[in-house]
Amino acid sequence: MRPISRRDALILGGLGVAGTAAGAAGLWWSLGSTVGPLGGAGLELRNPPELRSAGGRLQLRLEAARGGLDVGGRRALPMLYNGSLPGPTLRLRAGDELAIRLVNSLAEPTNLHLHGLHVSPQANGDNVFVTVNPGDSFDYSYRLPAGHPPGVYWYHPHHHGLVAGQIFAGLFGAVIVEDPEPINVSAEHVLVVSDTTLDFAGNTAAASPLERMAGREGELVLVNGQSSPLLTARPGERQRWRIINACVARFLRLRMDGQQLDLIGMDSGRSLVPEAVDEVLLAPGNRADLLVTASAGESVLQALPYDRGGMAGMMGQGPSAGRGAAALATFRVSGESAASPGTVAARPAGEDLRTAAEAAHRQLVLAMGAGAGGMGGGMGGMMRFSINGREYSESRTDTIVPAGSVEEWTVVNTSPMDHPFHLHVWPMQLIDSDGRALTSVVMRDVVNVPANGRVTVRIAFRDFTGRSVYHCHILDHEDLGMMGVIEVR
Ligand code: C2O
Ligand code: CU
Ligand code: CU
Repeated sequence: MRPISRRDALILGGLGVAGTAAGAAGLWWSLGSTVGPLGGAGLELRNPPELRSAGGRLQLRLEAARGGLDVGGRRALPMLYNGSLPGPTLRLRAGDELAIRLVNSLAEPTNLHLHGLHVSPQANGDNVFVTVNPGDSFDYSYRLPAGHPPGVYWYHPHHHGLVAGQIFAGLFGAVIVEDPEPINVSAEHVLVVSDTTLDFAGNTAAASPLERMAGREGELVLVNGQSSPLLTARPGERQRWRIINACVARFLRLRMDGQQLDLIGMDSGRSLVPEAVDEVLLAPGNRADLLVTASAGESVLQALPYDRGGMAGMMGQGPSAGRGAAALATFRVSGESAASPGTVAARPAGEDLRTAAEAAHRQLVLAMGAGAGGMGGGMGGMMRFSINGREYSESRTDTIVPAGSVEEWTVVNTSPMDHPFHLHVWPMQLIDSDGRALTSVVMRDVVNVPANGRVTVRIAFRDFTGRSVYHCHILDHEDLGMMGVIEVR
């Protein structure tokens, strides 16, 4: 049980009616329903279809449409890219050109964002200000720089106001930028973790205002659209698992006892040497590049409970409360031992922005507060989600940065809930997280800013100019206004 802080009490006061808050707690409690394998559990993991660049180019048509599909063992009508959940995995190399014709066969507007890729945000590049209306299509074209970091990236819609709903409904897919020198593994799997809630008819359930304020978490937690699929290996085998947190708001505290896990990268780039880990925490939007060295037996890849805080009135019964571990997948290791895969070569150290001349320091304050009219009117009232006191406006540029400069940003969270902070196009180097300075170079494109905490990052605004955005990657919060516009010029 979290005690009510003075700040919570202030927010509670701002809500006007204590009874409303109590009702809210009840609702949130019911969100924390059990998550476990349903029908279809134990089926072999399906890898999404793969499209690979050739001769420096990948061109594809990507259609967003509703389609009938088995989701976690249930008949459902999700939104899909090219009819699959997740959409096709795009495999690219540094220096490649990627051309995507996005076809919108949905009944609402959409667009496309390549999360984490270091590409131009202008024109028909990674431009989130583009709108593709129902029945229309748009030709995107991206060029990865020659030195683009390898890693696990992903794509999803980014039409402000509809992002959470479209991702919750199934619109996401993986992008892999291959290593210059391959790592010796016996198998590679892409595991896109998502969550959703289906209504009785198999449609994606709509989120209530309260669920949106908390950040919606689905009743089903899926891996590649499956409920608790099976992965297999022989003892001694080394596999590479590329794990993407495509959930709208759920944090994934991953753990798999009985197996050796080595993290070789998170978000963009590779670590210098593999790092043995027991747990990996993925905020919404984060990815992990993991080596799994198999030991005989059966293990469960679990998402353990993570407390991401809550709002006043939730009284310790926040979105993450009252919930046990979710079983994401089963890993079965049996048979004859495989030959040793050998060691993984260390990577050369990259640039360390801590030693760079710092051009400017900025502070960004992520805040939640009672909106105009408050919530006194009942459940319809929305809390305000802001950055530096302002809600998102497409026409306003909040932050202007000189091209080529290195900046230090401190992101402050004044709310009682975690906010995973995401910046498009330019990766962030984590400098200090809640008072703990980092000792090594850690690059991220989503950094979690803990409830009432702060994080400092450094960013090199190189290679591209143009307008883009930063926002909370609890996508309900982004849709509700916790997003700002940056222009590099
Ligand atoms: Cu993954 Cu702006 O988003
Ligand atoms: Cu992004
Ligand atoms: Cu948030």
